Amino acid sequence: NNSSSFPSNFFFGTSSSAYQYEGAYLADGKGLNNWDVYSHKPGNLIVDGSNADIAVDHYHRYLEDIDLMHSLGVNSYRFSISWARILPKGRFGEINEAGIKFYNNLIDGLLLKGIEPFITLTHIDFPQELEDRYGSWLSPESQEDFAYYADICFKSFGDRVKYWVTFNEPSFQVKLGYQAGTFPPSRCSKPFGNCTYGDSEKEPFIAAHNIILAHIAAVHIYRTKYQATQGGSLGIVLHCFWYEPISNSVADKLAAERAQSFSINWYIPFTILFFIFYTNKAKMQDILGSILPEFSKTEKQKLNKGLDFIGINHYTSFYVRNCMLTTCGPGKGTSKTEGYWTQSSQKNGIDIGEPTELAGMNVYPQGMEKIVTYLKDRYHNVPMIITENGYGDMNKPNSTTESLLHDVERIKYLAGYLDALSTAIKKGADVRGYFVWSLLDNFEWNDGYTIRFGLHHVDYKTLRRTPKSSATWYRNFISQHIVKD
Ligand code: FCB
Repeated sequence: NNSSSFPSNFFFGTSSSAYQYEGAYLADGKGLNNWDVYSHKPGNLIVDGSNADIAVDHYHRYLEDIDLMHSLGVNSYRFSISWARILPKGRFGEINEAGIKFYNNLIDGLLLKGIEPFITLTHIDFPQELEDRYGSWLSPESQEDFAYYADICFKSFGDRVKYWVTFNEPSFQVKLGYQAGTFPPSRCSKPFGNCTYGDSEKEPFIAAHNIILAHIAAVHIYRTKYQATQGGSLGIVLHCFWYEPISNSVADKLAAERAQSFSINWYIPFTILFFIFYTNKAKMQDILGSILPEFSKTEKQKLNKGLDFIGINHYTSFYVRNCMLTTCGPGKGTSKTEGYWTQSSQKNGIDIGEPTELAGMNVYPQGMEKIVTYLKDRYHNVPMIITENGYGDMNKPNSTTESLLHDVERIKYLAGYLDALSTAIKKGADVRGYFVWSLLDNFEWNDGYTIRFGLHHVDYKTLRRTPKSSATWYRNFISQHIVKD
């Protein structure tokens, strides 16, 4: 398909994260992180009782994985650093040199093959030592730890790494960790979930506030200590569904806008342009009342130039309806703190896009064009990178390797979404790259190993990697669209 067009310096890559890939959870001085501990806790919500102690053993097989990327012809790779592998005890202990060495080897290996590294500093994992000390993102201490850790990463890797992401999907992280309680630290209150501790109406916002400030602190360090010599770019990766108002009514349109605000808009204005921050904050304040924490004067001063690009993780779309406490209050929809709204994959019994085996994962390629255009219009065409997009297969008891390798549905999905992306680009959106989630099948959080997102199949007994049809498809797509220097 040559009808789509991408800029000549466009990044085509694949995406991954440390906990989902590396394994080697106790190797070479690594400390435990929150997921290491959670996945070993009886009664956790991981459906197949698995963990990522081994995962796909990327820690030991990274050279083989770089070869796979090389044969795909990608020019970039997004991965995350395991914080506890670099700083097992956060800022209260030593740097683990073996951890630094691993990422140096990975970065050098990528560069040798002409693959640009994109690093996410933390992709959901958090050192357990710090969780135990002060309760992770609920404490402002987390900001100091994150900034300290970011500084070490910039200093150690920034001579070669030019693209940095501070956080992956903060909205999802705080929702699952502190509202629904389905991710560690498993905090929530009824009726949102069933946890021992927590306050679902308040804690997600406190955690998000600390995450935003941690982002700002890390960026500030980069700008003042490294920008001039390293010249890199920094961004934050946001969880971006497309939220389609279910009707043309003003109430439903506003509800969709609120839904968008709590996953996206809350995180961007703080970091990009001061004045948007204020207009947006006024609206959020209406909804949140006194819950939304204030920023101090010095914090506000650091807000400018808080990011160079927005990372977009986009998979699917939902209809959004405005509603009342009685029809979709806590337990039925969202909280008072988000100004009631509810999402669904259907309107009058008809699905948005094509439904898939995975509930809430309908294929609606137009969503890609819509979300990119929404962000372009709202944020003055800030540079954007599609940091994740991909298709998951259920690992059914009767699914054979053969059927998993012949992944026509994934190809259809990727082709559709890339085409929609190229339309948005043609219409003027400044999108710089696209990363498929994921290079390999891997550990899918609470879904364990039951859902496969890879362009390569992984046999979890032997850890053998085999290209699926989609790998061949992606290779051909890239070779037709990439312009080599
Ligand atoms: C995203 C996560 C990523 C992976 C994909 C399928 O929300 O960032 O780690 O789990 O979903």
